[in-house]
Amino acid sequence: MTTPAFRPDPETFDKLYRGEPVFEGGPAPTGIPWDIHQAQPRIMELEALGGFSGEVLDIGCGLGDNSIYLASRGHSVTGLDGSPAAIEEARRRAAAAGVTVNFDVADATDLSGYEGRFDTVVDSALYHCLDDDDRQAYIAALYRATRPGARLHLSCFSDGNINGLIAPLGAVPETNIRDTLTANGWRIDFLGPTTYLGNAAGFRMDESGLPQHLTDQMPPEALEQMREVRERFAKIADLLDGDRVYLPFTVVHAHRVD
Ligand SMILES: C[S@@+](CC[C@H](N)C(=O)[O-])C[C@H]1O[C@@H](n2cnc3c(N)ncnc32)[C@H](O)[C@@H]1O
Repeated sequence: MTTPAFRPDPETFDKLYRGEPVFEGGPAPTGIPWDIHQAQPRIMELEALGGFSGEVLDIGCGLGDNSIYLASRGHSVTGLDGSPAAIEEARRRAAAAGVTVNFDVADATDLSGYEGRFDTVVDSALYHCLDDDDRQAYIAALYRATRPGARLHLSCFSDGNINGLIAPLGAVPETNIRDTLTANGWRIDFLGPTTYLGNAAGFRMDESGLPQHLTDQMPPEALEQMREVRERFAKIADLLDGDRVYLPFTVVHAHRVD
């Protein structure tokens, strides 16, 4: 199954981080679906196995918990995100954790001023937020921002199924990742299924709360997908231990060719 595309712009992300309705006339957010107040378990595991070295870039770092964890493990980390509200909160969390991370606002599709800076890049759920043109620009920008031999760990929504849950929106076909990376100077070492720990509060949103003018514009398959995700989530909601769910992702480990 191909999941309908959902490509929010940077201002939409910023509103979500500010707790404001992301659509005019829409409901206030019920939670940030990726805010779990800790690093992704897969990133912690990868770090323990030596997956991070040199200058680390956490691109699309959001609220900064992955960056903060990596810094707490002794890495020199830069966390960049397009949302000023996210970066402000990431700085606050880093200060509370007592670690130093270079957090800043930047557009991942450009990254001017960061040329030749990084040895390891982690993308935790940014790639699926971009449309095809922006994915090309983004992976090319990562090439410019890294040094020869740099490693890239990228994970995004897949069309898989984890214990009944499917991606809410925006699943990326594996061929799209393969083609974009190889066309922009990256060699793939591994590409396969993984999981991403999400905040179930984000699943409590339903399309009946969306304003009519918005649902009128949405492709029918996107509305259908939202309904299906909500129904699936309702079946497991009472069984959850806390407000966390694992979601189907693809992970790719790649390195810069030269
Ligand atoms: C799904 S969130 C993931 C956040 C974080 N990496 C995590 O796993 O918790 C995607 C993030 O990418 C950011 N983003 C989206 N488009 C971007 C762009 N063009 N440049 C920089 N950041 C962007 C959003 O602001 C958001 O914080």
